[in-house]
Amino acid sequence: MISPVLPVSRSEAVPGAPGLVEALESGSVLVFRDLDFPLDAFEQRFVERPFADGKAKNVAIRSETAALRGGAGSEEEQARLRDLLVRYRRFAENLIDTYLPAYRNKVSLAGTSYRPFDVDKRKLSWRRDDTRMHVDAFPSNPIGERRILRIFRNINAEGQPRLWRVGEDFGSMAEKFLPKLPGYSGLSASLLAALKITKAKRSEYDHLMLHLHDALKRDLDYQANAPQADVRFQPGETWVTFSDLVMHGAMGGRYMLEQTAYIAVADQADPEKSPQRILARKLGRPLKH
Ligand SMILES: [Fe+2]
Repeated sequence: MISPVLPVSRSEAVPGAPGLVEALESGSVLVFRDLDFPLDAFEQRFVERPFADGKAKNVAIRSETAALRGGAGSEEEQARLRDLLVRYRRFAENLIDTYLPAYRNKVSLAGTSYRPFDVDKRKLSWRRDDTRMHVDAFPSNPIGERRILRIFRNINAEGQPRLWRVGEDFGSMAEKFLPKLPGYSGLSASLLAALKITKAKRSEYDHLMLHLHDALKRDLDYQANAPQADVRFQPGETWVTFSDLVMHGAMGGRYMLEQTAYIAVADQADPEKSPQRILARKLGRPLKH
């Protein structure tokens, strides 16, 4: 089964309808077609050419008060780009409060990014190649009992859609790949944390997710032949998904804004739908912390 894309129209949707949280937690990508996030005359330049130093993958702020990283342009331009990201952060927070009120005050916002580059034009190693379908996992930043919720917006000014592939449901994918993954060692996880290679101790969940991420991206036969659907996100559209649950690959498009947010598994409407619980059920035992 392909994870469905669920269009949500501001005029039709009843904000806070419980169905939206249920769909999101079940693996849907919610697409908001008509939310306003206008750029002013000065900001138009940010969608005309990339204001990025080209060293980092994205231009980002890690919090509302953090400095802009990876940006380029004059001091004023970088300050205005930072302002734009702060405004997008509030837009994303407002979207959660309005359409997913069950998550209100339970979500913590992480980084906000500006992504001006075309995904196709960067030559990356297979592990960093996000055109290959994957679920998100962060090598140095253990997630533990949290979920990764992401709010994206296409701000392309030339009509170019953002292209994604969306894959099969998490459980079916996990069934194929779990038997191939190496076992978890609490000892080496403690060592990685002691050496500050990871920001906290990697749990068994983090270990499995990192290895799933890599095993999926390495498997070219799976990439070509596994169930998948092409999705287009048009300029002006905003989409929201649990990127640790929904199999996705970014196939094209440039100029996008992205907000990452975390929510605890226990704060979900149904924690049983989390990848943490799905993996535990497939293994027939609780995961080690
Ligand atoms: Fe991703």
